[in-house]
Amino acid sequence: MVEAPAIQADAPPAPPCALVIFGASGDLTKRLLMPSLYNLAHEGVLDPNFAIIGVDRVEHTDQSFREHLTDAVEELAAKNHPIDREVWQWLVSRAIYITGDFDGAGAYEQLKERLASRQTDVGDANAVFYMAVTPRFFATIAEQLGAADLLTESDTAFRRFVVEKPFGTDLASAKALNARLLAVAEESQIYRMDHFLGKETVQNVMALRFGNGMFEPIWSREYVDHVQITAAETVGVEQRGRFYDATGALRDMVPNHMFQLLAMVAMEPPNSFDADAVRTEKSKVIQAIRQMRPGEAATHVVRGQYRAGEVLGKPVADYREEPDVSPESHTETYIAIKCMIDNWRWNGVPFYIRTGKALATRRTEIAIHFKRAPGVLFRENPDCTLAPNVLVIHVQPDEGISLRFAAKVPGRKVRLAEVDMDFRYADYFQSAPSTGYETLIYDCLSGDPTLFQRADNIEAGWAAVDPILKATAAGMIDVHGYAAGTSGPTMADVLLAQDGSQWLPLERERPR
Ligand code: BG6
Repeated sequence: MVEAPAIQADAPPAPPCALVIFGASGDLTKRLLMPSLYNLAHEGVLDPNFAIIGVDRVEHTDQSFREHLTDAVEELAAKNHPIDREVWQWLVSRAIYITGDFDGAGAYEQLKERLASRQTDVGDANAVFYMAVTPRFFATIAEQLGAADLLTESDTAFRRFVVEKPFGTDLASAKALNARLLAVAEESQIYRMDHFLGKETVQNVMALRFGNGMFEPIWSREYVDHVQITAAETVGVEQRGRFYDATGALRDMVPNHMFQLLAMVAMEPPNSFDADAVRTEKSKVIQAIRQMRPGEAATHVVRGQYRAGEVLGKPVADYREEPDVSPESHTETYIAIKCMIDNWRWNGVPFYIRTGKALATRRTEIAIHFKRAPGVLFRENPDCTLAPNVLVIHVQPDEGISLRFAAKVPGRKVRLAEVDMDFRYADYFQSAPSTGYETLIYDCLSGDPTLFQRADNIEAGWAAVDPILKATAAGMIDVHGYAAGTSGPTMADVLLAQDGSQWLPLERERPR
């Protein structure tokens, strides 16, 4: 085995542990898990006794599995940044492989033996089981692990498992999945992943709100007019037609990623950064999202589907002509929702959410629109239209925070113009290459569940979207076409115009 590389890290190494990856020869492992593990190894935060045990149905020996991983990483390296081969060798030499079915006992017997064979030192019995598999296997794998007695913890060994999204397809299925997982493991052993929580800027929302004195006092219905949360993507459905056509933008993005962003902005300050204190406040605010009556869903929700167009200069086909998509599909690739939060702080403040594929630009952001200043002093002046102050948290790309306010245009006449104060991460901090998964994997290995979803967080999210799913299934919410490469259906503009507001343009420059 290769010696551990000595690299400076800003966190202590995670405890020794075997990371057992179900779905080890699949796409997620090669696209995200291995690059993230490589980045963690490069940071020097993996223990010398860290090991990877791959499990999948595809036949591999330990050696051919290592070669498969290396080929994949070389492909990525060619596109992104060069790989430090010493670090990669250190990591890949720790990988072994078990060929087996997820629903038969055989693979679990082998897994038990291989885990037992590495138990020579304190901490060697620690294991994290990572489900990089299609959702229908989540509960099966957990039950098989339970039956093989692989989930029993002791004073010297932790056993945890990570579940990817989608976690259920509606409230009932999410509850059923939680019940099956909780029948074989404690809540503290279950790490439900939402990769948006691994993004630095999302975590920075808490620093912005609770590490500064000036924002919290104005963070309420008295000063905030409305909030816009956007996750716009330029990609279409690509090779995921089968999954996406059965899922749609609402299920894919809203109860999980979009509500996580909403919760970060809207939750009450937790009593501490203790995982349960934070997750309790998040659940409370998501539970406070008003559940729409069927009639309301039709006026508070806009669904869209992309038609042929051009994104970033490249032609894009009509969604219904994408591979594995039904030519009669009514699945939405865009959704905009007006959410109301029924609690003391946010009563009457709309939170508008929009997310979609094949849009003009890639942009994830949270924009807090403050109420306008009273216009008394400028009422008679035609050169002075008072615009609202807007605080934008730029989640990706070009991470940062900007504040828009009015300033006097130099000159003898009093004229107002909107200007921006702009903080960009890249100007202040050197950031290491990151897929966003590093933080989450490190936290799971270290036993910090703050950035993972508790059962009640997940169920609260589904409870809020369930009425929209039902209204959609009942044919009460039309799907509007929009040309690929635009900002989405025009009806989404009407949703805000009804309230006298408008979306921040998707395509806009940030001044330098
Ligand atoms: C995933 C969705 O969870 O998040 C995808 O399934 C979406 O459809 C992706 O593209 C967006 O994540 P990111 O990190 O690229 O913004």
